[in-house]
Amino acid sequence: MKRYVICGVSNRAMGMFIGPILKTFSSHAEIVGLLDADPRRFEVCREQYPELKEVPSYTEEQFDKMILETKADVVIVAGADHTHEAYIVRALEHDLDVLTEKPMATTSDECRRILEAEARSKGKVTVTFNYRYMPIHRKLKELILEGRIGRVTSIDLNWYIDTFHGASYFKRWNRKRSNSGGLSIHKSTHHFDLVNWWIDQTPIEAFAYGALHYYGPDGELNPKKEDGRHCGTCEVKSDCAYFMRWSSRSREVVPKDDHVGAATLGQGKNPYSNYRPDACIFDSEIDIEDTYTATVKYDRGALLSYSVNFSVPYEGYRLAINGTKGRLETQEYHAPSRVPFPVPEQTIDYFPLFGSKETFHVVFNEGGHGGGDPLLLEDIFLGPDPGRPYEILSGARAGANSVLTGEAVWTSVKNGAPVRIQELLR
Ligand SMILES: NC(=O)c1ccc[n+]([C@@H]2O[C@H](COP(=O)([O-])OP(=O)(O)OC[C@H]3O[C@@H](n4cnc5c(N)ncnc54)[C@H](O)[C@@H]3O)[C@@H](O)[C@H]2O)c1
Repeated sequence: MKRYVICGVSNRAMGMFIGPILKTFSSHAEIVGLLDADPRRFEVCREQYPELKEVPSYTEEQFDKMILETKADVVIVAGADHTHEAYIVRALEHDLDVLTEKPMATTSDECRRILEAEARSKGKVTVTFNYRYMPIHRKLKELILEGRIGRVTSIDLNWYIDTFHGASYFKRWNRKRSNSGGLSIHKSTHHFDLVNWWIDQTPIEAFAYGALHYYGPDGELNPKKEDGRHCGTCEVKSDCAYFMRWSSRSREVVPKDDHVGAATLGQGKNPYSNYRPDACIFDSEIDIEDTYTATVKYDRGALLSYSVNFSVPYEGYRLAINGTKGRLETQEYHAPSRVPFPVPEQTIDYFPLFGSKETFHVVFNEGGHGGGDPLLLEDIFLGPDPGRPYEILSGARAGANSVLTGEAVWTSVKNGAPVRIQELLR
């Protein structure tokens, strides 16, 4: 039985770690301490999980006290992104293993400090990259490992985040680069990590353009130029196309999975005491981009052409991976409940360079993020699946590579020049 403490009692911490530890893995794992900067989070957590009533809670300054008092074996880091590095490094200084949510960190400096701390420690960092575990993503990895497409030469990846999910990042702490590193780190860390893992190459240089096209004070659909509004109390929300997408003038509909909890906010039940997660998407404090195009070069020659847009009518991605012997293609339409039209089943098409095309109908499994979350949890709490013949859990070096690529992207946008990715670590 391993003893876990949670640093950052976030929505993600509750849904991904606390709930599953209590419900599914209780004979292997035990939660012995909770830490957060906001005491309201302990109330929210204990309302949802009364089993944790006796588990002690700690403030940010009490990390060392928590480790000593609880005799923790593993530190789970799942708070806002800018808080990850401090807890990871401090856990490593106690020679403890760390499970951290993505992104591992928000800057290259933080990545360097984590890698140095891990080198000095008996502890080990695991970054919980759940996207790797989605059945389609594992199948792509397996097809590449089988040598179907030979040596990977180029990748086209276009990721689309819909108006609902995309807007959520601009309502919350994520909208400040100091909290999230910007979306080329906060969100694209998933995408860059997938590519790095699929092709097993190291990113070395990036050039990018980026813009804030939809959100922020100059967003074309801003109903009123005025800072400081919140969706729950906004007087012009009926003129806001983003808010009204699911509502009509007499019926306010807040889709459930909105990452914001706006439904309960409206009843005066803010789950945070220090801020509201329904701030206006047109505020001028927003200092990140909502659109990027980037080119990334890899150490063994692969070239990635990547784009991401956070205000698209539907969610999903298009992917093609080319190699010296063939090509893989797939297209995902995510969150079908929010897509107002029929969508095809996601399959993988394999085109050998010379020969007949094959289509793979991949077996899906239940659970969050396309069935990825529960498999990741099994690997974490029960140990890596011995039947899987390849590495899938990510360590700190892989965690750093996707953060470095994201930093190279936004700094390239600012400076108009290519960025040498691995040199960011020096
Ligand atoms: N892998 C995925 O698919 C996935 C999905 C969602 C979120 N996440 C990640 O999970 C983490 C949490 O995201 P969320 O949206 O659930 O967050 P959230 O907004 O629900 O919670 C953030 C928490 O961090 C706490 N916090 C802020 N400053 C702190 C500090 N200095 N010390 C300790 N706690 C502090 C806040 O009080 C809050 O409890 C993020 O790193 C995010 O990137 C991952």
